[in-house]
Amino acid sequence: MELQEVLYTRQSIRHYKDGDVPEEDIIKMVKAAGTAPSGKNVQNWHFIAIKNKDLMDKISDTIVAKNEEIALEIDKKDSERGAKFRKFVKNFTLFFLKAPVLVVVYTANYYPSGYHELTFMDAPKKATDDILLRRNPGMQSLGAAIENFTLSAIDLGYGTCWLTSANYAAAEIEQLLRDEIGFEKEGYFMAAMLTLGVPQDNPKSPKKKELAEIYTFVE
Ligand SMILES: Cc1cc2nc3c(=O)[nH]c(=O)nc-3n(C[C@H](O)[C@H](O)[C@H](O)COP(=O)(O)O)c2cc1C
Repeated sequence: MELQEVLYTRQSIRHYKDGDVPEEDIIKMVKAAGTAPSGKNVQNWHFIAIKNKDLMDKISDTIVAKNEEIALEIDKKDSERGAKFRKFVKNFTLFFLKAPVLVVVYTANYYPSGYHELTFMDAPKKATDDILLRRNPGMQSLGAAIENFTLSAIDLGYGTCWLTSANYAAAEIEQLLRDEIGFEKEGYFMAAMLTLGVPQDNPKSPKKKELAEIYTFVE
């Protein structure tokens, strides 16, 4: 596929055809992700591709349990809001159970240029937080890698959906993956998940902003 076609074909895919995604294809996507740029070339990403349905079920159970724990607390203040939170997890997270592959994406902090210098000169935390957390170059790097993964998936005939809506259960999922597959990597933490498979449909993506809203040109 031509790059322009890949770019404009990309949509978040939440329904998948049955069928396998061979590991050799997954490896191509991870290699494409691995060519992404990253601050100081730290390449702060790790992709765990899961086809094992038992493990996917356990991840789902972990998310549902955490969702319920939070929803019960919300119920105490506003039961409608609690119900909405429970519904959201069904519609915008748990569909991963029907995807042939779930990819859990880990990242590590990247301390940008100036961070250690500001810390050294005892700058206010607001200043160090601003470059580390607000402008977060580590996450910018990871975003580039995830997008490369997705574009490569489309080129190979697949689709993905990027998921961060389970991040409130990230610590529990990390623990599950430690217990179930022994995955642990110094300094790395879960940042997102991706579903992967052959798209079942062409969903209607939400409208994109007009050019004038996202672009300024200075000659
Ligand atoms: C960082 C990020 C997190 C997202 N998290 C979720 C999610 O948890 N659940 C979901 O269904 N879609 C999620 N999406 C997909 C967005 O909803 C989708 O990209 C957006 O609505 C635009 O639609 P499109 O991707 O089809 O163009 C996420 C996308 C990004 C980039």
